Amino acid sequence: MLQVASRVERANYAIRDPDVASKVKELKAKGRKTYELNIGDPGANKGIYGFQTPDYIKKALIGIIQKNGEFDGYASEQGELETRQAIADYSRSLGISDCDPEKIVVGNGLSELLDYYFGVSVEKGRNVVLPRPDYPLYTARVNWYEGEPRYYTMDPKNDWKPKVEEIEAQIDKNTTAVVLINPNNPTGAVLDEEELRAIIDVVNDKGKGEVPIISDEIYHLLRFDGKQHISTASLTDDVPVITMDGFSKGFYSPGWRIGHMLFSNFKDDSLFKAMVKVCAFRLSANNAVQHAYAVGIRERENNMAEYTKYLRWLKERARYTTDRINSIKGLSCNAPKGAFYALPKVESMKWKTDKEFILQLLEEEGVRIVPGSGFAMPAGEGYFRVVTLPSMDVQKTAYDKVEAFMGRHVA
Ligand SMILES: Cc1ncc(COP(=O)(O)O)c(C=O)c1O
Repeated sequence: MLQVASRVERANYAIRDPDVASKVKELKAKGRKTYELNIGDPGANKGIYGFQTPDYIKKALIGIIQKNGEFDGYASEQGELETRQAIADYSRSLGISDCDPEKIVVGNGLSELLDYYFGVSVEKGRNVVLPRPDYPLYTARVNWYEGEPRYYTMDPKNDWKPKVEEIEAQIDKNTTAVVLINPNNPTGAVLDEEELRAIIDVVNDKGKGEVPIISDEIYHLLRFDGKQHISTASLTDDVPVITMDGFSKGFYSPGWRIGHMLFSNFKDDSLFKAMVKVCAFRLSANNAVQHAYAVGIRERENNMAEYTKYLRWLKERARYTTDRINSIKGLSCNAPKGAFYALPKVESMKWKTDKEFILQLLEEEGVRIVPGSGFAMPAGEGYFRVVTLPSMDVQKTAYDKVEAFMGRHVA
């Protein structure tokens, strides 16, 4: 029999866990209603949450595809210059001084580019320093390429702030990157300038100016305090930084599948060249949509009505999530400061693992959440991730069910 390659066993993606997905299918087949608080997709289930791609971007795409076939061919493997220029100009406006369009790659979503980046930089014997909790793709891809994921703590007792001394302790001569996710999935935490500077300093010292920071800023337009996002690369001219963003979150268009990486402060371009080489294997990212991404970035400031409304909803819905969860006996939750997630905790866990807890909740109440262990948290600690995207009505029904469940099972 043809064997599945061993790397498939090593890598998992809890947000779409096949065991949980088949349980949901089984419940639906029995006519049970489910409440899916698992996927960070503002456009999920045919737009059920009310978020859509902003109208000016939809119109731009229609104009692009009607241009007599101009964008029907493959794009450049690196990304179209028009798109890279729009990204570079925007990055400069965030204060990043080294933002050369020639050091940008455009992909079919960040997930694709992260796969390629770890493919060109990780192999057996190398490690990547990740936040705990992390976004599961990071651990999955490092394992896929036989690297070692190492973790630094984001401390729930300190509002999910990073323990910078642990970043320092984890870096050695085989470290290929330190990852920051800001604003954070799954906690909703936001790093401030002081914390970013402290991280940059330890990475610079311990990594001797050679270890890059991968700064995942895909949620940077979604912070609730109204303050300007601080991009990691805007705070250093010394440490190499890969700044990442895309269409999926701040532009409410995850199904359009476009993301980018900007390489700043790299002393040599071997990794960047390797990235572009690998990008050629898949020929190109979607041509028409990356041109719409350029319009999305350039024209955002002139089309704020939908963004303002959506951010208000996100803020209200996140507050509702936190208030509801904190009012349920046996659960606690730090308030998210951005993005559309929270990572609550079951206090005094009576379940052996968080997966047992979430499967029982799903079976009894039809509420689907993701176990914290999918984000590299210890399985016995009782963390779980919820998305805050659903309307307050939907959340009310779901949390009434969670409350009934906790009432039955936790004295
Ligand atoms: C932190 C983070 N990075 C990257 C991604 C993947 O982004 P994309 O849709 O561009 O592949 C996600 C998706 O949820 C995410 O939460």
